[in-house]
Amino acid sequence: MAKAKADFCELCPVGGQFNSTDQTCSVLDLDDGLLLACVGEWAEDKHARVRKYVDISRAARRKFTDGLGGATYIDPYCGPGRARIRGTERVVDGSAVVAARQAIDSGVPFTEIHIADTNEDFLIIAEKRLIKLGVKVKRYTGAAEDSIPRILSAINQHGLHFALLDPYDLKSLPFDVIRQLAKIKHMDLLIHFSQQDLQRNLRRYIRMPQSPLDAFAPGWREAIDEMRGDDVVRGKILQHWLALIRECDMQAAEGVEEVTGSKNQHLYWLVFVARHNLAIKFWEEIRSVTNQKLLGF
Ligand SMILES: C[S@@+](CC[C@H](N)C(=O)[O-])C[C@H]1O[C@@H](n2cnc3c(N)ncnc32)[C@H](O)[C@@H]1O
Repeated sequence: MAKAKADFCELCPVGGQFNSTDQTCSVLDLDDGLLLACVGEWAEDKHARVRKYVDISRAARRKFTDGLGGATYIDPYCGPGRARIRGTERVVDGSAVVAARQAIDSGVPFTEIHIADTNEDFLIIAEKRLIKLGVKVKRYTGAAEDSIPRILSAINQHGLHFALLDPYDLKSLPFDVIRQLAKIKHMDLLIHFSQQDLQRNLRRYIRMPQSPLDAFAPGWREAIDEMRGDDVVRGKILQHWLALIRECDMQAAEGVEEVTGSKNQHLYWLVFVARHNLAIKFWEEIRSVTNQKLLGF
């Protein structure tokens, strides 16, 4: 196990040690004795959006849970379901537990929750945490591009579905994941677009004959002029990715939430994608006004 005494571990009030391989903390959750991810405080921004969206969409969800289609939450990059905020004693729910708990608190629980991850141990742990909430959960081990077809064949095609796509980096989010999910009529997506990855690796990705961007945003090379400055090229890649989304007959909300780190560094964009105006309207209502950027494309 690749352990590093990271800077933030020195400050950790619980004496935890960060495992850089799977980004977990060596100190287990005191509440349930299970493994915790170790995350920056900015993860809470993402969870707040998930929580608010699940809450604001409760009436829409009820129509489907009262009907035949049902309503699911899909989390193909699920993690272990809880996390310690690095450098603090604070332990927070991970995305799947946030969504499940909020749906229950809002009075309209999901019919089912589908979780997937490449790390099977995480899945087993997240499943335990979800079952404790009384949730019907199905788990799928593997990369998102492989788990999504399995999830799609398990869900009701006429149901209402909300998926969070929350990978660490761009290479883990091949566009095919979005394309497959977009085949379902009522599919709302909240997507973590790793701005940090594009910031750090842009020129390396451009030089690579086989670049992680090939799967992330197919056709990206034709969409950019690499002689232009980094900001312009990054903007073109984002525009191209959004155009691919529109080709799936989905729209990205104009209000994109930019999540920054404690030193104001760019980390990621939260992009909300849906087919129906009501879903986009919900997002516009709950997205934060601070740090929020309009795409303007
Ligand atoms: C940012 S974490 C997810 C955190 C989680 N959404 C939360 O908020 O609690 C990313 C997760 O994706 C998993 N992962 C990495 N590559 C993956 C892939 N290609 N497909 C599916 N999961 C992957 C990692 O094991 C990790 O648990």
